[in-house]
Amino acid sequence: MRFEFATASRIVFGVGVLKEAGALAAGLGRRAFVVTGRSGERAAPLLADLQAAGVEAVTFTVAGEPTTDLVREGTAQARGAGCDLVIGIGGGSVIDTGKAIAALLTNGGDPLDYLEVIGRGRPITQPSVPYIAIPTTAGTGAEVTANAVLAAQREGSREHRLKVSLRSPLMLPRVALVDPALTYSMPPALTASTGLDAFAQVLEPYVSLLANPLTDTLCREGLMRVAHSLRRAYQNGNDAEAREDMALVSLFGGLALANAKLGAVHGLAGVLGGMFDAPHGALCGRLLPFVMDANVKALQARDPDNPALERYDDVAVILTGEWDVEAADGVAWVQDLCKALGVPGLATYGVTAGVFADVIDKAMASSSMKGNPIKLTPAEVRGILMRAL
Ligand SMILES: NC(=O)c1ccc[n+]([C@@H]2O[C@H](COP(=O)([O-])OP(=O)(O)OC[C@H]3O[C@@H](n4cnc5c(N)ncnc54)[C@H](O)[C@@H]3O)[C@@H](O)[C@H]2O)c1
Repeated sequence: MRFEFATASRIVFGVGVLKEAGALAAGLGRRAFVVTGRSGERAAPLLADLQAAGVEAVTFTVAGEPTTDLVREGTAQARGAGCDLVIGIGGGSVIDTGKAIAALLTNGGDPLDYLEVIGRGRPITQPSVPYIAIPTTAGTGAEVTANAVLAAQREGSREHRLKVSLRSPLMLPRVALVDPALTYSMPPALTASTGLDAFAQVLEPYVSLLANPLTDTLCREGLMRVAHSLRRAYQNGNDAEAREDMALVSLFGGLALANAKLGAVHGLAGVLGGMFDAPHGALCGRLLPFVMDANVKALQARDPDNPALERYDDVAVILTGEWDVEAADGVAWVQDLCKALGVPGLATYGVTAGVFADVIDKAMASSSMKGNPIKLTPAEVRGILMRAL
């Protein structure tokens, strides 16, 4: 056995840890480029703490999922303002924007120089400017991952945008500050979509071809907490125990995906998210039960000795809390959950069967697909999309 495990240099977790950000920042730089979401409200206490700690702050707002243009603009502003530290406080979109800016500040050049799949794929060679990542959704786990997902187009092309990553262990945040209280304000639909993303991120690495004993432990623990707390957090956003559980699931998902990869759920969600204006988590949630079902059937038919099959049985045991269950019961449990959480079909976002051929082509080439426990055929992927429509 050989595996590697890389993550943020320091993880600080707990209700109220946001107030430690000022002191942490003062140890890392003097002028912070603070990337926030649309609502400045969530960042206000942080900005006050930075001021109290003697750290100057220049703010930058991210209004949607990040693009190469947004990252170019942020990097130019941060460089112009002479920032020596980046802080991202928000959902995955904000965290990834800050992560990309922190990397470009030291590596120079353009995002397209480094982007995988559609960019020039040049390696990142310099460690990022110190980066403090503070998530407010639960979530993407992006506070502990080595990539930043950007929507981008090939240079000079007019084809649909793709969601692709800048990726390097050198991009891992210096500090991941996870304060579950920051997620209390998420409304139910956002709790559902981001929670299902976190769920998929502890499930896909557990059945991934690249799973290792360390990610397995995180995934099993994460799945248990999903079963205990996702519905509760959706029903009552002030349920502190459920919010804490989901913040942990998100963190564990980030740790797992960065070290064991993902699978077809994220392979497809990444492509659909580039083409349609749909929240990443909602796409993941919709695809999750159908991908599980297709993977289990493909494994049973073509690779019955693959250890992932037993893992899908484990998943069913963990999720249902019963011993005499198998993979199909896990799929049914996830289907019930998605129904309870009001997850809409893909057609809600304008997806039609007419785009499937293009989606399938692109998803098959995505980096997430490489972790899927079995290579699905184009017909199987089409079946997933049809059911999810
Ligand atoms: N880098 C990685 O490892 C990784 C992993 C998974 C997903 N992602 C990326 O992350 C992005 C999605 O991130 P996300 O799902 O966190 O959503 P998001 O960051 O796009 O935020 C969604 C919405 O939630 C709002 N919001 C954030 N926190 C809130 C709070 N506490 N209360 C109320 N509203 C709040 C935001 O303002 C925004 O309108 C996608 O671009 C996806 O591709 C990255």
